[in-house]
Amino acid sequence: MDLNNKQPGPIGIFDSGYGGLTILGNIRKRMPEYDYIYLGDNARAPYGTRSFEIVYEFTREAVLKLFEYGCQLVILACNTASAKALRSIQQKDLPRIAPDRRVLGVIRPTVEAIGGITNTGKIGVLGTTGTIQSQSYLLEIKKLYPGYEVFGEACPMWVPLVENNEHQFPGADYFVRQNIDHLMAQDTSIDTVILGCTHYPLLLDKIRKFLPKEVCPVPQGELVAGSLKNYLFRHPDMDIRCTKNATCRFLTTESPQKFSAAASLFLQEKVEVSRIVLE
Ligand code: DGL
Repeated sequence: MDLNNKQPGPIGIFDSGYGGLTILGNIRKRMPEYDYIYLGDNARAPYGTRSFEIVYEFTREAVLKLFEYGCQLVILACNTASAKALRSIQQKDLPRIAPDRRVLGVIRPTVEAIGGITNTGKIGVLGTTGTIQSQSYLLEIKKLYPGYEVFGEACPMWVPLVENNEHQFPGADYFVRQNIDHLMAQDTSIDTVILGCTHYPLLLDKIRKFLPKEVCPVPQGELVAGSLKNYLFRHPDMDIRCTKNATCRFLTTESPQKFSAAASLFLQEKVEVSRIVLE
């Protein structure tokens, strides 16, 4: 595979499973003219409880696959992959194997937006066990806003609730309330809560129900879409390497039928999916 060519291609969007579809939906709404390829590693999801080494290895394989499909730019639409693999891919792999291609994550654009939202400077972060343990949000927030305080809460049950389509039912209330209560018990002046997992927007109604009224939940989709648009505006050299025929392809490592049924929950449309193997 020649990774030095600069031939224009679609924008790659990667997630461990379906969660990244919440990001893709927002990106397509904001920039419908571009071509996209979404890759969900559904066969190996969830990533949230996996080690650094494994998340890095899996994410690297997915990025290389998207490069193979012609993507010059890949978005890791997964907080767990952004937290555990992005830096190594950007600093170790790209300079060596594909110095002109770019891989971006979802944590930085989310953190950049919270300065305009919080009054108290006390930020809650809800995420997978992997994302919370990595402390990526804490580190990124401290870089931009050294005075802010950050409180994390891992919500290991939330992704399985969404992936099993249980998120709208009353059983989900128990887990959502429990994690929100734990988070808010850490500091009652938290006024901004980052939904640091791309699955969580599907739980937004329940999150709102259990968060105190004055606390603002922050989903990432629009923030990441705005930041990507801005990135392409600031990098016309990359923009011309992204094709614009308004198409979207879907790839999964699991069964295409399963993917297509679940994807309609996230995107409210029927999608054509192909199965691929990552290695
Ligand atoms: N959607 C992924 C994220 O944003 C988490 C799903 C998983 O655990 O694989 O972190």
